[in-house]
Amino acid sequence: MKISPFVGLLVGSLAGLGTSSLLPRDHDTNDYYVLHLDSRTDPNHVASRLGLRNEGQLGELADHFVFRAPITNHDVVRREVDERRRKRSLGGADVLDSVKFSQKQKLHAPMQKRVIPSPPSGFFPQRKRDDTADPKALDYQKSVMETLGISDPIFNEQWHLFNPLQLGHDVNVTGVWLSGVTGKNATVAMVDDGLDMYSNDLKPNYYAFGSWDFNDNRAEPRPTLDDDKHGTRCAGEVSAARNDVCGVGVAYDSKIAGIRILSKQISDADEAAALNYDYQHNQIYSCSWGPPDDGRSMDAPGILIKKAMLNGVQKGRNGLGSIYVFASGNGAQSDDNCNFDGYTNSIYSITVGAIDRKGLHPYYSEKCSAQLVVTYSSGSGDAIHTTDVGENQCYNGHGGTSAAAPLAAGIFALALEVRPDLSWRDMQYIALESAVPVDLDSGEWQPTTMGKKYSHTFGYGKIDTYALVEIAKTWKNVKPQAWFYSPWLHVKKEIPQGDQGLSVNFEVTKEMLQEANLERLEHVTVTMNVEHTQRGDLSVDLISPDNVISHISATRRLDQSDQGYDDWTFMSVVHWGESGVGKWTIVIRDTQVNDHKGTFVDWHLKLWGESIDASKAKLLPLPTEEDDADHDVTATATPTAITTSLPPPPDATNTAIPTSLPDDHPERPVKPSNTNSDGGPSATGTESAAAETTTESSWLPSFLPSFGVSSSTVAWIYGALGLIVAFCAGLGAWLWWVRRKRIRNNPRDTYEFEPLNADESAAGVDGGREKGTKRRGGELYDAFAGGSDDEEFNDRDHSSLVSEDSDDERDEDRGATRK
Ligand SMILES: *[C@@H]1O[C@H](CO)[C@@H](O)[C@H](O)[C@H]1NC(C)=O
Ligand SMILES: *[C@@H]1O[C@H](CO)[C@@H](O)[C@H](O)[C@H]1NC(C)=O
Repeated sequence: MKISPFVGLLVGSLAGLGTSSLLPRDHDTNDYYVLHLDSRTDPNHVASRLGLRNEGQLGELADHFVFRAPITNHDVVRREVDERRRKRSLGGADVLDSVKFSQKQKLHAPMQKRVIPSPPSGFFPQRKRDDTADPKALDYQKSVMETLGISDPIFNEQWHLFNPLQLGHDVNVTGVWLSGVTGKNATVAMVDDGLDMYSNDLKPNYYAFGSWDFNDNRAEPRPTLDDDKHGTRCAGEVSAARNDVCGVGVAYDSKIAGIRILSKQISDADEAAALNYDYQHNQIYSCSWGPPDDGRSMDAPGILIKKAMLNGVQKGRNGLGSIYVFASGNGAQSDDNCNFDGYTNSIYSITVGAIDRKGLHPYYSEKCSAQLVVTYSSGSGDAIHTTDVGENQCYNGHGGTSAAAPLAAGIFALALEVRPDLSWRDMQYIALESAVPVDLDSGEWQPTTMGKKYSHTFGYGKIDTYALVEIAKTWKNVKPQAWFYSPWLHVKKEIPQGDQGLSVNFEVTKEMLQEANLERLEHVTVTMNVEHTQRGDLSVDLISPDNVISHISATRRLDQSDQGYDDWTFMSVVHWGESGVGKWTIVIRDTQVNDHKGTFVDWHLKLWGESIDASKAKLLPLPTEEDDADHDVTATATPTAITTSLPPPPDATNTAIPTSLPDDHPERPVKPSNTNSDGGPSATGTESAAAETTTESSWLPSFLPSFGVSSSTVAWIYGALGLIVAFCAGLGAWLWWVRRKRIRNNPRDTYEFEPLNADESAAGVDGGREKGTKRRGGELYDAFAGGSDDEEFNDRDHSSLVSEDSDDERDEDRGATRK
């Protein structure tokens, strides 16, 4: 099945325009694959080699392409690539050697909106308006409205903008508006269930070019389902126009785009494209959604989405970085914690929690050490009053952390009006620098090294818009990011039950950080492996050299998972401003004395912050998490102590083909011990190395004639080469024989001859890889699973495949916890 060169050309040129995301998807009759190719490879060659159609680049991800195929149950790309890998040692060039990663796309349930959850039993909200308005405050409100020409009918109800009842409990924006800052020339994209651009309140500020409907493949992200109201309500908080409809947005002169992803099932590829959509103009992405807030899920975005977020902070806004704002989550009453959500605990997102109109912590708003700030939302008998779907519809019951994140996003838009040059990290700095601690008596506030207070409930405090914009005006941009990675630190000890916990530590020296070009800290992440039969019993504290404590994990009474922590990364913003030098301690507790026990296997500390020398700063390679896969790089002196919590080799049940799990692959390239120079993972280097390797093995004869050495040496080399060639020929013949034999003996290869059985065979392959029942069959692509014949010749080439693949495996957990 070949596509005509003309179609290839046409599609290729469309791809060049970066319009791939605009091509309609039809998952009923097609399968979609994302392939990461060597940058020199023409995707059309790969497409015709595989008999697929090239649908163009995946969003803004360079070298990532979407391919389309008629629907089947198996993974046709994986099958072909496996097949090629088996034959590779026989020589010859094949365009499939340029495939670094492939993933068959699956539709998954949309992310969950952070709407107000039902209150806990026994919860009686206080009566609405139980205070009387201050007459002076009412006068001020009136004068503000007159001065600014605000005549919006529900402005008086928008207490979050100006609160004449509970004085001081609003975002303190009026002074900013009066100074003329209203969001002009700033753009916020609502990534949600749509945006009603025909609402008279949103129409004036609607930014069509930055909008797209990824659920229904159309340019207008118009709400269509009964339930599609969330995005419009969130948009109203940001950018409802100053007019005679409802109220105003906090940045009422900003532009607002709608990116619709929450109304239907969606693939990781489309979600990734959504998070980079029009990222030169969409400056802020407001995301009031995430994995379920059920206190059981431990769910991170898939590798393509992770790549898109890093791509966004590196390339969005001409390199200043897209600003991702995420709602912390509404699962507090189920003991949920935003460090169990891979979007909110990403260092690339600003996590925003909620406080209510009395400045209290609402029952739903989640705590965690990744939470940066809070702002107003529902609780204490009231909610957020905003625009609704419909020409002139308003809504007075918007809430949950869903309503807090857009408010923050709008406030950041005001900062961008005065300082469009703020980087994604500058925005995090000014957010925490200007935040005001609230509820000092009950907020578990702790002093931090930079002279701030931090609470896991309120982050650095509530946003004060006036203070934030003032700080933005004179903010000196921070230097580029740098990072330091510890090696994997192996523990492999049982965790005692009760309060005492198990404590381990790692000493960071000044030299290590100097070598890593790291001046002072911003984010700290800890990746952990813990085996435990009841995950919710665990809690983890990270204690810095300055004795500042992050509760990076907390107990969750409903979390009965027996999966423990599997390469899970927790994040903390609590150590912002510390030097990082000294002893970092992890205390892990198994808080319940019961039959559920566990083992702390290993951990990996990463310090992120501002560089010392900006000229030496580098861009972090897109994630492959190969660093997290390198569990063998150890800091322990006794190699016998090296263990990992990884599952048994996936093909353990299939003895016909020797294969090894990427993570314990003996020839795996090992990064120089990770107390390393720049601290950075070397994926870029690995990729180019992979390219070289491919070239060498494919084009060996082309360099035969010239060695630049003496003729006798040349003769010797040719002699040696002759022997090698003879050996290879023999080996090739032997492999061919082994393979034929295997094909005869092994049903898994019979699909070549009996296509009707293909699905079963493919399922068998996937089945062999399954770890328990966690995996979604058919989606995994393991470059090795089919054969390791050529691994010894080309292990470097594999590393990027391996790491992406192993990441992809983790990614599978996501499907399991999501319904
Ligand atoms: C709010 O903004 C005003 C300026 O309009 C400023 O003087 C004040 O400090 C800010 N904070 C509070 C809590 O009012
Ligand atoms: C608006 O923003 C664009 C891009 O950030 C910039 O080039 C332009 O000068 C800005 N216009 C105004 C009026 O600030």
